[in-house]
Amino acid sequence: MSEHTILQPTTIVIFGATGDLAKRKLFPAFYNLYIDGRMPKGFNILALGRAENTDENFRNHIKENLESFSRRKVTLEDWAGFQAHIKYFQHQLDEENSYKNLYQKLEGFDKVYGTRGNRLFYLSIAPNFVSVISGHIKNTSIASNPKKDRIIIEKPFGHDKASAIELNDLLSQAFEEEQIYRIDHYLGKETVQNILAFRFGNSIFEPLWNHRHIESVQITVAEEVGVETRAAFYEQTGALRDMIQNHLLQILCMVSMEPPVSLESSEIRDRKVDVLKSIRRISPDKVDHYAVRGQYGKGTVNGVPEKGYRQEEGVAPDSNTETFVAIKFYLDNERWQNTPFYVRTGKKMKEKHSYITIQFKPLPHNTFSESSQLLSANRLIINIQPQMDIRLQFMAKKPGLSLELKPVEMIFDNFACQNDTPEAYETLLLEALLGDLTLFMRSDQVEEAWDVMKTIQETWEKTKDSSFPNYEAGSWGPEDSNALVERQGHKWV
Ligand SMILES: NC(=O)c1ccc[n+]([C@@H]2O[C@H](COP(=O)([O-])OP(=O)(O)OC[C@H]3O[C@@H](n4cnc5c(N)ncnc54)[C@H](OP(=O)(O)O)[C@@H]3O)[C@@H](O)[C@H]2O)c1
Repeated sequence: MSEHTILQPTTIVIFGATGDLAKRKLFPAFYNLYIDGRMPKGFNILALGRAENTDENFRNHIKENLESFSRRKVTLEDWAGFQAHIKYFQHQLDEENSYKNLYQKLEGFDKVYGTRGNRLFYLSIAPNFVSVISGHIKNTSIASNPKKDRIIIEKPFGHDKASAIELNDLLSQAFEEEQIYRIDHYLGKETVQNILAFRFGNSIFEPLWNHRHIESVQITVAEEVGVETRAAFYEQTGALRDMIQNHLLQILCMVSMEPPVSLESSEIRDRKVDVLKSIRRISPDKVDHYAVRGQYGKGTVNGVPEKGYRQEEGVAPDSNTETFVAIKFYLDNERWQNTPFYVRTGKKMKEKHSYITIQFKPLPHNTFSESSQLLSANRLIINIQPQMDIRLQFMAKKPGLSLELKPVEMIFDNFACQNDTPEAYETLLLEALLGDLTLFMRSDQVEEAWDVMKTIQETWEKTKDSSFPNYEAGSWGPEDSNALVERQGHKWV
């Protein structure tokens, strides 16, 4: 976003550099930014891990993984340039001395630059280490310059509202809010960012973007995969916390927010907080009316037989963890009064597909009714992944001598414009290097999102769902999810 800001020399310190996220997302993102000439002129990536290791060994490990996970091929020339910036540093997360050594190392880099460079700390470690790391960073003053030092925190950010407030308080003791970059990688996705361009870069859609013209909005994030190797994490988390509280609510904010006055990060984030505040809170006795939970049993995905969630390794045989959630939200504000926003997400669904559907209202009168032609109401579909396109569905005349109508689509295809789209982490890391907070979550955003979830979360924790497992792997979720939208005369698209 901050196209014209000059990138300052930066040392990127990755806590958990030996982990899964670093190898699959972070190093590939830095590598591709490097190829694009979007890394700062002077940069170092300081990879932190507990074990003893050499720069050479660690670089080889990164190269092997780049070959699997980078969107671009690893060439000898690019790798030779990039690898020289990576340094491995043995470090113990809970030992003060390790941070004193880190301080010396960072000071050493500054001498090389001839200036105090920026410092970007990426906490790619489990959430329970955030407190110990931020405490040591504060005590050793290694991130003491609010204008130059930044910290990136991965999701999950807390597990409920109280823990998010606690974590925000803790971070605020070591960092100013402007230094804290809370990641929700959905905000880095090209098609999610395109919602802003589409809504506020055109004059023809915004006048229709309200309860007078829109019947309902649907947001679906469907995954084909199950819990894979993450059962221990997922058993404690479930779909509500893992997907709805962050990704789906963020998309909902992008679709429904008021036009920002400018692209200032505070302005956009204020508008999103307004949306979260406007979401109608559900009372405990209404949870079943507004929300549906599901857990997959055995079934077939893409022709392959799959076991049920409770048969996955590491999952309790009587697990109450939800792998599917559908919720009907209402936004109590002028623009969206009585327009349902349906959101759903699930694992082991029929297909991997994330998309938004804006369903427009039907025509008040059908001019073609005498020729008994049915008209489909207009629909706008924004495909987030794996397809990345925007489709406007409308009625048109069938070519021929009679006046017959049929639904057609007008499509903007991202891949047709550019088939080499940056990964979300590339966009987010570049924004963090540039010091632009727009695509990151502010403390009040995270807390408000947890507040939206609170009653559902507490009700589901207290009550066991005796219908589990209630959907087959390879389906679109439990039958109750259809009933949720059908009560309003709607259908999932
Ligand atoms: N992986 C993903 O796709 C993904 C997606 C979204 C969010 N996240 C979030 O990103 C963060 C990192 O995830 P990850 O999957 O990369 O984690 P990970 O592979 O399980 O662990 C990251 C690193 O933490 C260090 N570590 C593990 N246990 C430790 C301990 N007891 N004491 C000190 N260090 C320890 C290890 O480094 P050393 O042993 O070398 O010190 C390890 O390489 C988490 O917050 C996760 O929720 C991950």
